[in-house]
Amino acid sequence: MANNPRAFVTGYPIRHSRSPLIHGYWLKQFGLKGSYQAVEVAPEDFPQFVNGLQDNGFVGGNVTIPHKEVAFSLCEKRDAAAEEIGAVNTLWFENGLLHGGNTDAYGFVANLDAGSPDWSERKSALVLGAGGASRAIIFALKQRGFTDIRIVNRTVERARELADRFGIAGGAHGLNAIPELLQGAALIVNTTSLGMQGKDDLDIDLSGADSDALVTDIVYVPLETPLLRAARSRGLKTVDGLGMLLHQAVPGFEHWFGRRPEVTPELRNLVLADMASAAEKAK
Ligand code: ATR
Repeated sequence: MANNPRAFVTGYPIRHSRSPLIHGYWLKQFGLKGSYQAVEVAPEDFPQFVNGLQDNGFVGGNVTIPHKEVAFSLCEKRDAAAEEIGAVNTLWFENGLLHGGNTDAYGFVANLDAGSPDWSERKSALVLGAGGASRAIIFALKQRGFTDIRIVNRTVERARELADRFGIAGGAHGLNAIPELLQGAALIVNTTSLGMQGKDDLDIDLSGADSDALVTDIVYVPLETPLLRAARSRGLKTVDGLGMLLHQAVPGFEHWFGRRPEVTPELRNLVLADMASAAEKAK
């Protein structure tokens, strides 16, 4: 292990990333020498940035939009999640080789395990959206043994591509099928950006949902999205998406700094305070 291991998060743009706050908290908590910084890299400069990582003293880092697919292609080794999802969000070196992993599926599962431990007892889920985030979540559900996965998307063709990729026969549907698909779904998850601050709301009538269904959202700004609010007002269980962000950071930290960190209420509060101050500044 390097004396002062340096890690990074890169994206374009990257200034709103909360990853430096999260990893900085853990570095301090463990009293480790090391650093984690945000580095903005334009798409045309990304391959050069990755090729120069070791020369610049980096032991690895996180990769976010729009670099996840290119990062995938630049890695010499990839973990199973990255291979299945087709995108890399975590880079590290092992025996001199650049490894790429995808921790989004892990973060999704770990968040639900923490927030609603029996969430995967019934193996049926309704997944809203068919983009990159949806891929990670479908991979996670398949790994947990979900046998009944219903993918709903505005563009049905994209849902079909995902269903084919993951071998889910008859799993692709348009938005108009939501009312009937809600029935029997133990888990309802929004993987689209709808409901995020500044975007359109996700307007779904949950009246057909099972009374013991769990509703979750990958959007965490606002913390209680319109979907989660609607679920709560119907008395359905909910888990917000902030925990997915926190948990997905755990494996990366362990790769770079050699300690497995914990997602604590204190860390969650730290990020929530940062979100509140960002919202205040934006006013
Ligand atoms: P990500 O990689 O973050 O998942 P993405 O690949 O752009 O982002 O996917 C965004 C998802 O949100 C898609 O499922 C998209 O639906 P389409 O495939 O039909 O584009 C969905 N989405 C975005 N805006 C939407 C809207 N106004 N109504 C319905 N779905 C929307």
